[in-house]
Amino acid sequence: MVNSPSATEALKPAAARPRVEGDGASKVALRLEALWKTYPGSLQPAVQDLSLDVQDGEIVTLLGPSGCGKTTTLRIAAGLEVPDEGDIFFGDRPVVMTSRRLCLPPDKRNVGMVFQSYAIWPHMTVAENVAFPLKARKFPRKEITERVRRALDLVGMGGFEARSGPLLSGGQQQRVAFARALVTEPRVLLLDEPFSNLDAKLREQMRIQVKLLQKRLNIAMLFVTHDQIEALSLSNRIALMNFGVVQQQGHPRLLYEKPINEFVRDFVGKTLLFKGTVQTSNPGGQLAIALAGAPDCAIFGRTYNPDGIKSGEAVYVGVRPEDVEILPALGSKVPSGMIGGTAQAALFMGERIEYQIEVDGQGVIVIYGERHNPIEEGSKVWLKPRPEGHSAWASDWSHKQD
Ligand SMILES: Nc1ncnc2c1ncn2[C@@H]1O[C@H](COP(=O)(O)OP(=O)(O)OP(=O)(O)O)[C@@H](O)[C@H]1O
Ligand SMILES: [Mg+2]
Repeated sequence: MVNSPSATEALKPAAARPRVEGDGASKVALRLEALWKTYPGSLQPAVQDLSLDVQDGEIVTLLGPSGCGKTTTLRIAAGLEVPDEGDIFFGDRPVVMTSRRLCLPPDKRNVGMVFQSYAIWPHMTVAENVAFPLKARKFPRKEITERVRRALDLVGMGGFEARSGPLLSGGQQQRVAFARALVTEPRVLLLDEPFSNLDAKLREQMRIQVKLLQKRLNIAMLFVTHDQIEALSLSNRIALMNFGVVQQQGHPRLLYEKPINEFVRDFVGKTLLFKGTVQTSNPGGQLAIALAGAPDCAIFGRTYNPDGIKSGEAVYVGVRPEDVEILPALGSKVPSGMIGGTAQAALFMGERIEYQIEVDGQGVIVIYGERHNPIEEGSKVWLKPRPEGHSAWASDWSHKQD
């Protein structure tokens, strides 16, 4: 057993809890350093040179497409997989140091886990499920009863103690799984797609509950999902992975507004690509770009290409759909700062209308409009992009036929 504070201290809000001895005073709860993992028989590493840390009270999300190494990373942190190389620290305490052949088993790491399948044991009651990790660690009976009660209260499942697992809804089962992960009072909680078996409404509710729970307990959470809405809404930081490599790490807004490469740009949110030509550029990567087909529309963007992009070069401008306003055309001359087009099709989506627009000098682009001012299919439109804050990507579109 890594820690055993008294029953009265168990699962109290973090501010009221003393720091557990052995975890160190550092704010970093979990640190992964230069992890590598290749499964036997595979040529491609599942995780490559992955480093990240999770502070107390922080939700860090591993986001990425299927097979990119999210679960592998989480299992390495939990102690269910051994990395080929790299170190792991819980607070200041090393739990993995491959150079010294140190690799502590899961029960020697101060960690709780919740996985995609609820893994609620059907032959046990709710209370027995939650009590299980404490019994395995030989806690006294009185303390077990008290901790189970607190953990179930925390997830809103007080009163369900005697119910057996199969008689709970999916959301209730997942809340019991949370209670069981929290009952040992871990400093770090590892969550692997914990809501993916739930329907959309329940997912939203659980998201809010987890956020509240995390605020209350101030624990560190490493959260795995491939659902970007979940990642954007829950995380203090996101590490976006592809082929085992972290592509970009940072606040959700950073990844959304300043994607470092095309993979990040296209994975996080939707992007419209407008063709343009660089008018001016500065060494900081800021560019003024003239949009093709719009003689009087220049917008500002930024490139992350370390060599920059020079004046006169062709680029794609990455524009988020909500950064373009669609207006009915009021004449034949397109005003300054806008680009003209024709609405070929309008798709009513409920909260918005998606227009397929043949944009002057650009091709067909799908633009979102609000539902209260619908635009007739076949009519002329003006598009007004925000004047700045876009991303710019080197392109040879001017040599391509499309
Ligand atoms: N036990 C294993 N043995 C061999 N290869 C494995 C094993 N587990 C995972 N892999 C491979 O390692 C890579 C990363 O898998 P991982 O499960 O970490 O991906 P993931 O990002 O969690 O994907 P998903 O979103 O589908 O859950 C994949 O190519 C997968 O096929
Ligand atoms: Mg997975």
